[in-house]
Amino acid sequence: MSSPPFDRSLGSKYTGTPNPAWSWCQKIDSTPGGRKWMEGEKQGWETIATAEEDPKKLYALMISGIVPRPIALVSTISEEGIENLAPFSWFGMISNWPPVVAVSCLNHGAAPGRLKDTSNNVKNSKGGFVISIISEPFVELANASSIDAPPEVSEWSLSGLTKVPSIHVKASRVKESAFSMECELYQTTPIVDPSSGETTTTLILAHVKYIHVRKDMLNQRGTIDITKFKPISRLGDNSYGRVGDAFKLARPSWAADEGKIQEAIKRVSED
Ligand SMILES: Cc1cc2nc3c(=O)[nH]c(=O)nc-3n(C[C@H](O)[C@H](O)[C@H](O)COP(=O)(O)O)c2cc1C
Repeated sequence: MSSPPFDRSLGSKYTGTPNPAWSWCQKIDSTPGGRKWMEGEKQGWETIATAEEDPKKLYALMISGIVPRPIALVSTISEEGIENLAPFSWFGMISNWPPVVAVSCLNHGAAPGRLKDTSNNVKNSKGGFVISIISEPFVELANASSIDAPPEVSEWSLSGLTKVPSIHVKASRVKESAFSMECELYQTTPIVDPSSGETTTTLILAHVKYIHVRKDMLNQRGTIDITKFKPISRLGDNSYGRVGDAFKLARPSWAADEGKIQEAIKRVSED
């Protein structure tokens, strides 16, 4: 199935929220969008017992359901000084203080127990590593770095991405990325299959020591403007996602809304 060409005119803008009239205790069927959403639920559910499922099917289901995932473009260097670059979407922020992010590397399926170069380098080289965020204009370049090249081949040159020396770690950062983090290893945790005892995956916790952010991405509050950043996310199979429109929805506060909440609870309990 062929897709229409990439639409460069699309960007993100801020809009209102999906259901601006929602108030405390109101059920999903109070809006047309909510009723439509719940229509599909009438077809029933499939429940998967993970221990009985084929791991490949589980993989396909989980990577399509746990979306969109941010992507870490990880630049490492081996003990011998060979540079490596690869994207990882099992990635997330763990803590802002200390600043810690997590990246998870599957071991090579074809060779059980063999670590990917990224895991090996992060664990064995004391030099640190860099995690960069991918934006739309260089997604093809970043995607190329996922190639299963032998360890002696640098993904940097075949991807076309540009190295910039880091200030704290030995690995280079990606010049094309508007947001890069120089990291030291905080901890690795082997993820072991309890039934076979096999270590299938390596969880890497990274301590972020320096952040490089492009000035043109920053707004007056010192945060990143999503309409300029154009970060790419990972969806199921080989799909990538763009950021669409954004909306702001304030975090609710008990102190501000207690009266309204109590009233709504009373109203629904009387229904
Ligand atoms: C967008 C994208 C996301 C990926 N996410 C992961 C991931 O989270 N974990 C993983 O083990 N491999 C992931 N991969 C595959 C690795 O990038 C690939 O195995 C790469 O060759 C590993 O490189 P290395 O052996 O040089 O470390 C991803 C690939 C792509 C294209």
